[in-house]
Amino acid sequence: MAYDFIQTRVAGRVGWITLDRPEALNALNAAMVSEIVRALAGFGADPDIGCVVLTGSDRAFAAGADIKEAAGRSYPETFLENFLASWDAIAHLRKPLVAAVAGYALGGGCEIMMMCDVIIAAETARFALPEVKIGVMPGAGGTQRLARAIGKAKTMDLCLTGRMMDAAEAERLGLVSRVVPASELLAEAQAVAEGIATKSRISTMAIKEAVNRAFETSLSEGLLFERRTFHALFATQDQKEGMAAFVEKRAPQFRDM
Ligand code: CAA
Repeated sequence: MAYDFIQTRVAGRVGWITLDRPEALNALNAAMVSEIVRALAGFGADPDIGCVVLTGSDRAFAAGADIKEAAGRSYPETFLENFLASWDAIAHLRKPLVAAVAGYALGGGCEIMMMCDVIIAAETARFALPEVKIGVMPGAGGTQRLARAIGKAKTMDLCLTGRMMDAAEAERLGLVSRVVPASELLAEAQAVAEGIATKSRISTMAIKEAVNRAFETSLSEGLLFERRTFHALFATQDQKEGMAAFVEKRAPQFRDM
């Protein structure tokens, strides 16, 4: 499928989406977001894909929503069209989504990064929610997902000042899963994603659902959801295969059944 603002490829059981709008540091215009959503839907429906990686360039994962596109918008327009609501589809992908982040992850770029499940950052990565500097505020989940990821004090600091944070600070705060040298970023992302993709998709998708439930519900409801889902996995052939393979000291052959 041809796209104008992204590139897609498949490596093993991993689907890759590379943001490709270098002249604007991968600023997210409406067309690019709709391409990302379309590509995710394709990988989501493909039984040969077990994990998706979202990445940008060395210089920028994405420098935010396209400010030039948004500058002339009115309140009635943004409200009636529910501006940015289409971005939510990224968070709704049921398969695990890995972000491989180098350079700027700012504003909406940081927000789509936070919609991903595993975040691998290059040492060059820089994060900010700088919307306050242009008279607005994060609008694609930034205030909510950042607060859940790193707590109130740091979220207020970042959102109210718009300051830039480096990869070491992001790792220390638990915003990213791991930090690697820039030259190793894509190989590390592929290795992590392939490791996920070769597990039973029933397990990995159930795990994603259960972890996300932790941010939506009470502890007792979340624990019950986890326990019942865990029980349900005993109805799968992949559970039989995974445990038999352990006992027989061989690699499991999962069939997503
Ligand atoms: N939207 C539109 N264009 C952008 C952009 C953005 N978010 N970020 C960068 N660009 C464009 C620049 O306008 C420039 O284009 P021209 O050559 O045509 O002028 C090109 O990308 C290169 O950028 P700079 O010349 O500014 O590069 P730099 O190295 O001097 O600075 C930067 C890099 C610090 C990332 C700077 O570009 C910047 O501050 N960008 C804006 C970051 C920002 O405010 N993001 C939040 C957007 S609002 C949002 O995301 C709302 C939301 O919640 C969804």
